[in-house]
Amino acid sequence: MDRLKPRFKASPLAAKTQFRKALGDWFARVGKDYPWRRTREAYPILVSEMMLQQTQIATVLGKGYYMRFLEKFPDLESLAKADDQSLLKAWEGLGYYRRARMLRETARAILTNHDGVFPDDEAALLDLPGVGHYTAAALLAFAFGKPSGLVDGNVSRVFSRIMADFSPIDEHAAIRRHRQWALELCDPTSPRIHHQAIMELGQTICRPGRPACEICPLASFCECAEPEKLPIKKPPVAITYLHEYAIFCRDSAGRILLHHESGTRRNGLWKLPLRSASDFAKIEPAYQSEYTITRYRVFLNVYLIEDADSVRMLDGDAWIHPDRLHELPLAAPFRRSLDRLVGMD
Ligand code: ADE
Repeated sequence: MDRLKPRFKASPLAAKTQFRKALGDWFARVGKDYPWRRTREAYPILVSEMMLQQTQIATVLGKGYYMRFLEKFPDLESLAKADDQSLLKAWEGLGYYRRARMLRETARAILTNHDGVFPDDEAALLDLPGVGHYTAAALLAFAFGKPSGLVDGNVSRVFSRIMADFSPIDEHAAIRRHRQWALELCDPTSPRIHHQAIMELGQTICRPGRPACEICPLASFCECAEPEKLPIKKPPVAITYLHEYAIFCRDSAGRILLHHESGTRRNGLWKLPLRSASDFAKIEPAYQSEYTITRYRVFLNVYLIEDADSVRMLDGDAWIHPDRLHELPLAAPFRRSLDRLVGMD
C-alpha cells in the first residue's frame, strides 16, 4: 500500500536532529494560527489550556468562548475576584464546570503565594491548585519556552505509533515514558514551536482511526506498520445509565420554576427542578433528551406541570422570570430543554 511506503528509516531517539527538523519544517508550512499561539503571556495560555482539556478547539474558538472569557476576566486579579455566578456564566457551554472553579483557585494562589507572578519551574507550577502535569508542562513550553514533558491525547497517539508502543497509553508506566520522550525529543532551540507542532501533527495527520501516513512528515521515523491498531487503551470504565425526571412549570406571572444547585458536581448552576419517577407514573414527558457526563449516560425527561399551586417547592427552587434566563449559568442539557419548552407551552 502506498501509504506505508516511506516507512521507518531511523528511530526518532536515534535521529533527534532530523526528527526535529522534519517536524519543524512541516509546522512552518501548515501550522495553524490560534490566538493562544500568538501570546507568551502565561495567563491567557493557562485559560486556553484549561478550556482545551475537555472541549474541542472548534467549540472553544467557533463559539467565541475564549475571547469572551478573556474580555470578562482579562487578568489574574479579575478572575480571582469573580463571583460564582459570573464565573459559571462565562464558562457556560464549555461543561465540566469544576475546571472554571479550579482556574479561579489557580489565579488566587498565584496572587497570594507568588505576588501575582506565574512561577516558571515545574515543581512550583505543580504545587498550584488546579495545575496537573499537563497544564504545568503546557505553561513551561508555551509561556516560558522551556522543553517539557507535554503530552496530551494527540501527542500520546503519535508516540505510541512512532515507537510502536503497544502498551496501554493510559497506564502509569506509559504516561511516564511518553512524558520522557516528549522531553527528550523536544527541540531545545524552539520548544514552543516543537510542542505545538507535535500536538498539531496528532490533531491533523496522526489522527485516531485512519491516519494520513502518506503525507506525514515523520513517516520515515515511524516504526509502526499498522497505525490503525494504535493506541491501545485500558478497557473503558463501564457506563452507568441514569434517568432524570424534571418539571417545567410556570406560575400565573409567567415565571418558570428553576433549581439552583448546591453541593453537587454542578454546584452553582441552574437547572430544571428534578423530582422522583413515581411523581410521573401516568404522564407523558413533553421533552426528552440524552446526554453524557463523565461515565454516565443520562436520559432526561421533562414533564409539563400546568398547575403551579400543585408543585412542592424544595430547597434551592426559585421562580425565575424568562427575561432573566440568559443571565443565569444553566447546565447545557437544561438550556437546550428550556430553549425548546419556552414558547411551546
Ligand atoms: N497549542 C497550544 N496548546 C494547544 C492545545 N491544547 N491544543 C491545540 N493546540 C495547542
